[in-house]
Amino acid sequence: MCGIVGVLGNHEVAPILVEALKRLEYRGYDSAGIATVSNGKLDRRRAVGKLVNLSDLLVHEPLAGKAGIGHTRWATHGAPTVTNAHPHRAGPVAVVHNGIIENFRELREALGAKGYDFVTQTDTETVALLCQSFMDAGKPPVEAAMATIDALDGAFALCFLFDGQDDLLVAARKGSPLAIGHGDGEMFVGSDAIALAPMTDQITYLDEGDRAVITRTSLAIFDATGAQVQRERRTIAMDAARIEKAGHKHFMAKEIAEQPTVIAEALSYYLSADGNGIVLPDPGLDFTAYDRIVMVACGTAFYACYTAKYWFEQVARIPVEIDVASEFRYREPPVAPNTLAIFVSQSGETADTLAALRYMAGKAATILSVVNVAESSIARESDLALPIRAGVEVGVASTKAFSCQLTVLALLALEAALQRGEMTADSHAVRLAELRSLPGLLTRALDLDEWLNAVSNDLAESRDVLFLGRGMMYPLALEGALKLKEISYIHAEGYASGELKHGPIALIDSHTPVIVFAPHDTLFDKTVSNMQEVMARGGRVLLVSDRKGLALASDGVWQTVTMPEVPDLFAPILYAIPAQLIAYHTAVAKGTDVDQPRNLAKSVTVE
Ligand code: F6R
Repeated sequence: MCGIVGVLGNHEVAPILVEALKRLEYRGYDSAGIATVSNGKLDRRRAVGKLVNLSDLLVHEPLAGKAGIGHTRWATHGAPTVTNAHPHRAGPVAVVHNGIIENFRELREALGAKGYDFVTQTDTETVALLCQSFMDAGKPPVEAAMATIDALDGAFALCFLFDGQDDLLVAARKGSPLAIGHGDGEMFVGSDAIALAPMTDQITYLDEGDRAVITRTSLAIFDATGAQVQRERRTIAMDAARIEKAGHKHFMAKEIAEQPTVIAEALSYYLSADGNGIVLPDPGLDFTAYDRIVMVACGTAFYACYTAKYWFEQVARIPVEIDVASEFRYREPPVAPNTLAIFVSQSGETADTLAALRYMAGKAATILSVVNVAESSIARESDLALPIRAGVEVGVASTKAFSCQLTVLALLALEAALQRGEMTADSHAVRLAELRSLPGLLTRALDLDEWLNAVSNDLAESRDVLFLGRGMMYPLALEGALKLKEISYIHAEGYASGELKHGPIALIDSHTPVIVFAPHDTLFDKTVSNMQEVMARGGRVLLVSDRKGLALASDGVWQTVTMPEVPDLFAPILYAIPAQLIAYHTAVAKGTDVDQPRNLAKSVTVE
């Protein structure tokens, strides 16, 4: 959600903070701000909207100093106004915060009773005021910050900066990740290592409950009990090129185009040298030990789980329950023995998914995660974490992470099928060869870019769009609708095509485009019947199929998209490309902010 950064540097810190915030802007972009200490004096600048507004402000009202903190906000408590923007200041202390302080009302009342005035609607201001109240009572900055942290309930990553202290930051992590970067006589704090990538690749991740006292030459970490602890310092491989747009107009376009490459990388990571076997990282997985699988995730990652349910059930014959994490975590499902729980998350930090994981860990289920960020909380709390190898995904709308999640889940389903004797070694080898053919097929599908651009110009005029699919194409219809609505703001719904006549068909008219994903597979005829029902009611159909399918069913449809032929099982991975490109081009035609759509954030670390 919000992004936070802190720097104790040897140069003017404002430009460094803004540069780091640029890398964190994907976490939220309602407002941004920085605070610095210069000649012992604490000061701050804040602006509503994108980071560029803060940069403009700093041109007119520069902020000097070599120590500072910064924040890019995704509003939870209080509207996105300058007053509510971070850093929040109370007397001698400034604070940046990611997360939610759950007991802020109680704290606010207690502070109010002591005469401390509130000027914002945020929960974070409480943190600054509480720290001020401890300092007013005589505590030095570090002790005041520690006492403040002790008093907070909820999920947070915090960084404190103090008036009169240009060589001190105090940081804390509870429920929201925080990375400490080591420089040469400089130290950094960031919501993630990406923010710190240009400054350092030497990172120490705080553990849950940790607090850190940081100067330019020292780092002291204490756990929640106050005991000093050592945390590993690691060198993080950060491919800076992956964080640039590389000539594309948007990160989303670049990330869509990268899919053949990253899927090939994911495959080569998991396939044996001869390409005929799957090698899972230690400690591996024995699928014969499980009677059922529970898969939990949010948003796009949930649709990856939904697709994988078909794979696990059809090829490995294991029953799979799926749920969105925000529901799963509170419905307290009974957990049968021998359950494998799979959590899928690009960021590895999604609060609901992490809570669901902890619920299942408490029920003694085996925890497997499929993540993009290998150092994330979800990865670290799993029995086995499988990286999807998509590289940094910056666009808020997930694209390459989705297809890499699908690729890794497909490999897992094939491995499960082989281990459980549901697939012969020969068919397994055939399936792996099919997977290996995917990068080439995806490259061909990307050639449809221009055509999909043309089609999308018409879609941009629509108020509503429906997506239909059957079988494994149903979750893709859901994902296509999600992608379109989140970046173009056009209302879109995905339906199982057989479900249409049970209600949604009432929505059909000549103004509502209906996008049908229908490769020429065993369910093709059924999907086409549903499509005919739409056309009989004046619906405008955009049919996405292959040559065989289109030869049989394109009469009377509004537009067609000719996809390469693909092995049935893996069609969702290929058909993700037109789903994504349709959303992308429609959003570009509408002129929306593709990489940072309104109200959204990349990493959802609050529930
Ligand atoms: C949509 C999108 C979101 C995420 C969801 C889960 O394009 O990106 O729906 O898929 O917020 O995020 P992760 O995968 O980080 O757990």
